[in-house]
Amino acid sequence: MTDSFSAALERSAALEARIAAAPDELRMLTGDRPTGSLHVGHYFGSIRNRLRLQEAGVEILQLIADYQVITDREVAGDIRGNVRNLLLDNLASGLDPARCTIFTHSAVPALNQLLLPFLSLVSVAELQRNPTVKDEAATAGITSISGLMLTYPVHQAADILFCKATVVPVGKDQLPHIEQTRVVARRFNERYGATFPEPGALLSEATNVLGTDGTKMSKSKGNVIELRMSADETAKKLKGAKTDSDRHITYDPEHRPEVANLLTIASMCEGTDPATIAEEIGDGGGGGLKKRVTEAVNTYFAPLRARRAELADDLGYVDGVLRQGNERANQIADATLAEVREAMGMSYP
Ligand code: TRP
Repeated sequence: MTDSFSAALERSAALEARIAAAPDELRMLTGDRPTGSLHVGHYFGSIRNRLRLQEAGVEILQLIADYQVITDREVAGDIRGNVRNLLLDNLASGLDPARCTIFTHSAVPALNQLLLPFLSLVSVAELQRNPTVKDEAATAGITSISGLMLTYPVHQAADILFCKATVVPVGKDQLPHIEQTRVVARRFNERYGATFPEPGALLSEATNVLGTDGTKMSKSKGNVIELRMSADETAKKLKGAKTDSDRHITYDPEHRPEVANLLTIASMCEGTDPATIAEEIGDGGGGGLKKRVTEAVNTYFAPLRARRAELADDLGYVDGVLRQGNERANQIADATLAEVREAMGMSYP
């Protein structure tokens, strides 16, 4: 474990304590890229965490990071449809627009303007070292890295700092970006006077929910169970899931990763222990296992899916939630940019 990772873990634990003690002193921001709709891995990995903070009384800003879509691909695809899918998924999951600001960063000019002073605070060498950017470029097969791809971690710093967020729930892969954000805040404050708080990552427990083939859930692999799927589509998807030839079901993540993954999904939905579920299935084989997971997923997500269908019938309302969120994000960003101009001596009559 590196020093910076253990420091991030400690900060995350300290934030958990503050969430319990004084939630109303905290502001949470996190973001999703609108590249598709959310799946059960997202749900158990991050959405549940958002809902927990909302329930605890932390103020929530939920970003739809549309500009980030064009970091590792040339065309954004059906960006409008994907933005709407994210809105529907988040609202159906229980994010409450009365307590939470949902917005797209492309609609908030003052947020994007922060990128200019922030870029002056980081070196090209520093940007080129970011391990997550390197991984993403490699995964996408990108050989010539664009200016946006190289600098998007600084744009992400603007996402976080425009609203002075203190808590950023993310997975481990995002830690370099949060560290970059802390560095930008620190350098800005040193150069121009105390302006930004240094945020901390709130690391969610790894949930290890994989796709139906036992590898990372990813739309391109067709191994995803999306929140928006119907019960029948879910059953069909799980029918095609990979298992193994041993009819006796056991929970053994090391030797039987595909079986263990299905048991994990069932256990998340049922709120029970995967080993116990395995025992109950016993000699039921892959068929018995798939039947159990399908029932667990369809039962757990039925209310969410019903809400999602209702919302999809009322797009006027859904679009209104985004319009209001963007308005509020603009108010916050305008105020921060005014402060930044003042601090930099760039505020003119
Ligand atoms: N980079 C994040 C991802 O790929 C999305 C994101 C954009 C984000 N801005 C953010 C996450 C700010 C947390 C905070 O998932």
